[in-house]
Amino acid sequence: MQTIIISDLEGGVRLITLNRPDKKNALTGAMYDSMREALAAADASEAIGAVVFAGQPGMFSAGNDLADFMGNAGDNAEDGFSASPALAFIRQLASTRTPMVAAVDGIAVGIGATLCLHCDLVYASPAARLRMPFVELGLVPEAASSYLLPLRVGRLRATELLLLSRPLEADEAQALGLVNAVLPADMLVEQAIAQATKLAALPRGALAASRALIRGDQAQIEAAVEAEARAFDAQLRSPESQERLAAFLSRSKPATST
Ligand code: COA
Repeated sequence: MQTIIISDLEGGVRLITLNRPDKKNALTGAMYDSMREALAAADASEAIGAVVFAGQPGMFSAGNDLADFMGNAGDNAEDGFSASPALAFIRQLASTRTPMVAAVDGIAVGIGATLCLHCDLVYASPAARLRMPFVELGLVPEAASSYLLPLRVGRLRATELLLLSRPLEADEAQALGLVNAVLPADMLVEQAIAQATKLAALPRGALAASRALIRGDQAQIEAAVEAEARAFDAQLRSPESQERLAAFLSRSKPATST
């Protein structure tokens, strides 16, 4: 089964569909690599003018695969988050020049939520639920969310979302300006594609220059990605995060009888 499906649509839109429903679209290294390559190739292509991220019904993404996080926690530098496909994807995401649109139905946890902060347009179903439980897991925010979220919603709200991991329902996410519109689930991807098609049809030079102006200080965004990655690496190796990650993973295993 393909866990990431890339479809190039009419009108210059590349649709990236997360497809690992049995694990709620939790992202593995291979999935990050596919998405990173799809974004880099979109930037290099004259035919592609916009990208849409979509998930499966009721699940955008459960975030990073937590078993992969455990595997990234070894003592060697090459085991760490800094060397992971996740960070390589995040670096690409933060520097992608092609406009990106997200269609969020259901759960969007961790990178599933922070990815949206890099998208130019975000549409959500009424069932969308964004959550960033980094600190709860003994980790720190990633994907420049520690910089972008306070900028978008103010520091106090960002503290609730990033430190207390308070979930955001679709309507509130829209009220806070993190979502453009809340749409019925069966229209969501279609509408995201329609908006992406409009972006792709705009004069490319004007679009790229305007997008860069709207996005703000690119160097700050990239600096936040790197600062977070250093802190993330250190936390991932800490007993507190290892305990939290192990607790989630052991939860799903059948009890062993002795
Ligand atoms: N990494 C690895 N596996 C995950 C996962 C993740 N991030 N999220 C879900 N899964 C797996 C579950 O272990 C379960 O696997 P199993 O069927 O083999 O037991 C399967 O996906 C279904 O998940 P489940 O928890 O039963 O679904 P749910 O609808 O009750 O809850 C979530 C969905 C997303 C709320 C819940 O799975 C969750 O909290 N996941 C962790 C999210 C997270 O912390 N992500 C990292 C953020 S930094």
